[in-house]
Amino acid sequence: EKGNYRHYMQKEIFEQPTVVAQTLQSYVHRAQETVALPQIDFDLSTIKRVTIVACGTSFYAGMVAKYWFEQFARVPVDIDVASEFRYREPVLEDGGLALFISQSGETADTLAALRHCKQAGQTIGVVVNVPTSSMAREADLLLPTHAGPEIGVASTKAFTCQLAVLAALAAHLAVKKGHMSRDEEREVVGHLLEAPACLNAALDHDDDIASMAHLIAPARDVLYLGRGPDFPLALEGALKLKEISYIHAEGYASGEMKHGPIALIDDQVPVIVIAPSGPLFEKTVSNMEEVRARGGQIVLISDREGLDAAGEGCIATIEMPRVHPLIAPLVYAVPVQLLAYHTACVKGTDVDQPRNLAKSVTVE
Ligand code: F6R
Repeated sequence: EKGNYRHYMQKEIFEQPTVVAQTLQSYVHRAQETVALPQIDFDLSTIKRVTIVACGTSFYAGMVAKYWFEQFARVPVDIDVASEFRYREPVLEDGGLALFISQSGETADTLAALRHCKQAGQTIGVVVNVPTSSMAREADLLLPTHAGPEIGVASTKAFTCQLAVLAALAAHLAVKKGHMSRDEEREVVGHLLEAPACLNAALDHDDDIASMAHLIAPARDVLYLGRGPDFPLALEGALKLKEISYIHAEGYASGEMKHGPIALIDDQVPVIVIAPSGPLFEKTVSNMEEVRARGGQIVLISDREGLDAAGEGCIATIEMPRVHPLIAPLVYAVPVQLLAYHTACVKGTDVDQPRNLAKSVTVE
């Protein structure tokens, strides 16, 4: 079933161009160049607030979505991990959309949070990969991802498919709320449809990434930095690395470095910087300088322009295609996943079945 791949995780990483395209097919009208949700009889124009709840990697997809919903649709977004949300007595006002993101659709804390929100009268949106799951059954607005079964414990293709759905939902919400013109919508659809080809271009760097994994494998600690919608990718990168290679890793917003974590930097600490060129790039470069001045070993993931501007002095660079900021989180997920994967392979850990972890967390 793994075909030519060594691990399910590797196979699933490489399936991403196909499954993201598959997912987009049900959220985008190719001919009309519009975004379209599968359940179009639902009026989102009255939604006043979105509350996002999820765990782990699905939570990071939700964090990216917060940037998009606020930027494009100008809807305020609250987001929390399910285990915190349930117990903090959240304020849920009428007219709110509570959005749950889950690969399995069975995660106990997320499901309990869903039921809580349902009782509180929220509209229940669910982005879920398993169509027969509990969460899918309890949704008012069901937004399936079409990633296919995900077997590797570390989530990969479900994440990028969640991002594809959430980007389409953000655009749809923006149109409904009158914050996105027909032309802008057309443009967004165009960029979304570029994602599968860009994911393929990112996967072309698999060999380069494999050959730099030996730089990461001996590390005790690894830091990941990102900004804006790419900040959650830093968190996701750190999570992937720790769960499959057992190396301690942390993700930080680039600008937070100087508020503490910079104390950890020395020449033993690889720092993975996720920084597509664009308006936030210069700021991140100055954070890189702070790291470099302390001997930090930087791996820069950027496009040609970014690498030309700031690649010098890095221990390694990973070149991504030049992409629109909207699809950057999808595309940059690939090198982050591959780096964790190859590092785990160098360390010889059980990639598909990491110790202490279960694919579906059905206990609280
Ligand atoms: C990370 C990972 C977990 C899950 C989390 C939520 O690679 O797999 O962090 O993302 O347990 O699971 P779902 O999405 O099934 O609710």
